[in-house]
Amino acid sequence: MSTGARHRSYPLNAWYMACWASDLVAGSLMARTLLDQPLVFFRDEDGAPVAMDDMCPHRFAPLSRGRLEGGVLRCVYHGLRFDASGACLGNGAAYSRFPPGTRVRTHRLVERYRAIWIWLGDPDRADPEHIPALSRMPEPGGHENIGNYLHVHANWLLEIDNIMDLTHVHYLHLGSLGNESMRTGEMEVSEKDGVVRAELRMPNTICPFGPLEGQLCDQWNNVEWHSPSAMILDFGALPPGEPPVQDEGGYAFHIFTPETEHSTHYFFGSSGSYPEEEAWRPRMIGELQNRVFLEEDNPLIEAVQQRMAGRDFWDMRPAILSSGAAAIRVRRKIAKLCRDEANTSG
Ligand code: FES
Ligand SMILES: [Fe+2]
Repeated sequence: MSTGARHRSYPLNAWYMACWASDLVAGSLMARTLLDQPLVFFRDEDGAPVAMDDMCPHRFAPLSRGRLEGGVLRCVYHGLRFDASGACLGNGAAYSRFPPGTRVRTHRLVERYRAIWIWLGDPDRADPEHIPALSRMPEPGGHENIGNYLHVHANWLLEIDNIMDLTHVHYLHLGSLGNESMRTGEMEVSEKDGVVRAELRMPNTICPFGPLEGQLCDQWNNVEWHSPSAMILDFGALPPGEPPVQDEGGYAFHIFTPETEHSTHYFFGSSGSYPEEEAWRPRMIGELQNRVFLEEDNPLIEAVQQRMAGRDFWDMRPAILSSGAAAIRVRRKIAKLCRDEANTSG
């Protein structure tokens, strides 16, 4: 089924996370579809990341089935070679000359915050200033919880909905991340410089996990959305009445990139870099995130995708709860980006 510009749920003119920086290993090719476009990724001889269309211009073989030879990609089929700029270097055989200008389309990448960011829209509009600010991504060197990945059979907006409405924690994650006492909180939604923030404060509630598990605490679970699809949570629990100082290790990252209209790449992790004696901290959060997303969030979101059966979210006239205000605001902002793009491309 084709997805014409009118039906796309994602804007093209935006920076999306393509992979973790550590996913691109020298000498290896990585095939990944992003925004319905099959791409091949690798590092050139200097270690710089490269992304190009995963299709040879000769007989359309996937280039990801080829191999890297000193930073040059050789197609598996008839051996044409392409450098990191996408230019064809021929196959070295006397019998096969190739038309001048033969090339593969390459795409703009930036390596930042331990991730590789890609721009698949109008190249003239690619400004790295607009890469989501994830300055709390841990620096390499300690024990950390980043590099997590899940492939999800659901539209990316359903994943954004899930993170932008954290009241689901007290129902869907009852007994793992949430409990009934946490249903007494207050929510406030705000927006500044295009960043949408939902704050959920839960004073005098029982802490569900971690060192204060089972104790009465003042808890908070806040989330910020950075266009188009990076979310940063700041969460914490302290004994009642203590000033709510945010632990530098208490930020979680949830980043979604559409693979297609009905599948999503899900990248997640958390802040903080710890010495050996505190290695249990990032390990505990990573294990909890992986288990909860795999067993609780994603099966439900994939079931929602199936129930919706390809129908449009707004056409289905969803009941709007006040607690979903941040999620709805983000949906509207993304829809506007798509509309504006459709209008300017005629
Ligand atoms: S298909 Fe790639 S060289 Fe022929
Ligand atoms: Fe969840």
